[in-house]
Amino acid sequence: MNALIYAWPGREALAAALADAMSGDVGSLELRRFPDGESYVRLVTAPAGRDVVLGCGLEHPDEKCTSLYFAAITARELGARSVGLVAPYLAYMRQDARFHDGEAIASRAFGHWLSSAVDWLVTLDPHLHRHASLDEVYSIPARAVSAAGSIARWIAANVPDALIVGPDAESAQWAGSVAMSAGCPHVVLEKTRRGDRDVEIRLPSLAQWRGRKAVLIDDIISTAHTMATAALRLREAGFAAPLCVGVHALFGADALAALRSAGVARIVTCNSIPHATNSIDVLGIVATAAREMLASHRPSS
Ligand code: R5P
Repeated sequence: MNALIYAWPGREALAAALADAMSGDVGSLELRRFPDGESYVRLVTAPAGRDVVLGCGLEHPDEKCTSLYFAAITARELGARSVGLVAPYLAYMRQDARFHDGEAIASRAFGHWLSSAVDWLVTLDPHLHRHASLDEVYSIPARAVSAAGSIARWIAANVPDALIVGPDAESAQWAGSVAMSAGCPHVVLEKTRRGDRDVEIRLPSLAQWRGRKAVLIDDIISTAHTMATAALRLREAGFAAPLCVGVHALFGADALAALRSAGVARIVTCNSIPHATNSIDVLGIVATAAREMLASHRPSS
């Protein structure tokens, strides 16, 4: 039987991409809160004998983890052959070390928990910095695909004479591969983070690139202080208002305002997280990876 896809509210486009790539059926999932705030989950479409695919972006994870866990456990109890998770944004990857005594290494703890709930995981550009791969924190088959090719095609089509700028060392992997695919130069800035909303950014000498259109690229825009500070420094260095490209549009409350007051020309994101700034489609590559993952890890019946 074809895969059965259950998608969380707001993820209809993801469900459609998965159904298309996997020739799957979109099932009905009922989610609500009891009056006391606890989660109610019902798999309205029966999962017995099906390979179940849960489509659940993990931005704001604490709001979704309970329903995700209940849905996965219930699918198994009701006879699903397998249960996979497609999370275009994977949460808790940035706290990947114990920076201060007593801190949780959230990437490991979350990976341990999620590995106990589902059989496989597909995601897009997880924040791999101190972990070399998802295998360090996930004990299930876990595949990450990259938005770099899609971003590069968008830049090649929309920004002649781009200079790709990674705002910090962690962004170097995205900036480098986008620049290579788009056929333009790239530079990486130096960031010191002093707090959640307090970053300092230093520029190397960029004199040889003046006249190019600076395109800031980062995997995550959260408070946007990284992008906004980098944009200010680039303008001080004589560049025109830069374009900001983010893979995952987390966008906290004041993020757009911070970018506007830094004078950025345009903000463009991928649709891994639904947001008004989405301009680059990545759901197709995520769905294709999910189809390949299911084909290689489908249990024999
Ligand atoms: C961290 O290193 C990430 O790559 C991003 O630079 C960071 O998450 C962006 O956060 P914010 O938008 O809050 O500055």
